[in-house]
Amino acid sequence: MAKLITGGSGQIGAELAHILVERGEEVVIFDIHKSKRLSDIEKRLQFVRGDVGIMSEVLNVVRDYKITHIYHMGAMLTSESEANPWAAFQVNVVGTYNILEAARLLDVERLMFTSSIGTFGMAAEDKLSDTTLQRPGSFYGVAKLYGEGLGRWYNRKFGLDFRAVRYPSVVGPGVATPGHWDAPMILSVLSGKPYECSMSPDTPTAMLYYRDAARAADMVLQAPKESINMMNYNIGGVPSATPKQVELEIKKHIPDAVITYVSRDESSIRLNTRAWDDSYARNEWGWRPEYATLEKIVSDMVREMRERPEL
Ligand SMILES: NC(=O)c1ccc[n+]([C@@H]2O[C@H](COP(=O)([O-])OP(=O)(O)OC[C@H]3O[C@@H](n4cnc5c(N)ncnc54)[C@H](O)[C@@H]3O)[C@@H](O)[C@H]2O)c1
Repeated sequence: MAKLITGGSGQIGAELAHILVERGEEVVIFDIHKSKRLSDIEKRLQFVRGDVGIMSEVLNVVRDYKITHIYHMGAMLTSESEANPWAAFQVNVVGTYNILEAARLLDVERLMFTSSIGTFGMAAEDKLSDTTLQRPGSFYGVAKLYGEGLGRWYNRKFGLDFRAVRYPSVVGPGVATPGHWDAPMILSVLSGKPYECSMSPDTPTAMLYYRDAARAADMVLQAPKESINMMNYNIGGVPSATPKQVELEIKKHIPDAVITYVSRDESSIRLNTRAWDDSYARNEWGWRPEYATLEKIVSDMVREMRERPEL
């Protein structure tokens, strides 16, 4: 019963690896690089260096380690994909096809995939739910939507047990994702630097803590087959957090933090500011975030970054 995490060296995959290892699961990480995020558990898991875009490497790891369950998280993120869409095609499109095909050929029991708010792109609605029409505007969003659809097709055509979660903005220690303001704000002031936020103080963002993102990936894969109807699920944490609210939370820990705001055209980030509806995940398999308040997220992040500054 070995479980494979592609992209398991990353922010969410490494956290998921901790959850599985603590539960006594046999874990195999498949990633293009090793990560210090796994250093405390590296003796309790297997690491295979490999590329999801190379079919033979994917088939080898699934066959050699007798993989029964796959968490497919290996991907190039939004800004990397926009900068090099040709490489992102190989990783995010071909890679997802390779994983699904390996799962079909080698009789993997269950597979989960991590999708994104980026699949909604140019959606006109003010609320984004699992039934909102998805019209992605970025290469990343296009590739994630392909993964959602291809997984659903493998399920219908071959009976492959496929599920997927769709995250909004994920925050966590050590990752200042380009285009995000939340984690960069905390990271910056914790290291003693002032932070200039390019978002107005009262613009809301749907926010998910990385520990909850990993828990949701685990929960959706474990959910009984009969509870999976929607198949691709929005996952929520804090539904609406503004920079000013995050600033106030940070100042409980770092009272002299310096945070300023510059105004800019926010039309391009309107996607993140819409209401985020995760009711299908809640109703079908009981999703509830553990980090549902900014207070919990910020204090855990501050503690984690002080204890593990290497992240
Ligand atoms: N972080 C977010 O805000 C967010 C939001 C929505 C969805 N997601 C999705 O969640 C998943 C995990 O994201 P994360 O935040 O941990 O990102 P991350 O960048 O920290 O992790 C991604 C991992 O994938 C690995 N990877 C890249 N190319 C690979 C390849 N060719 N073969 C194998 N591994 C490869 C990277 O080395 C990295 O360790 C991704 O699929 C991502 O698209 C993330």
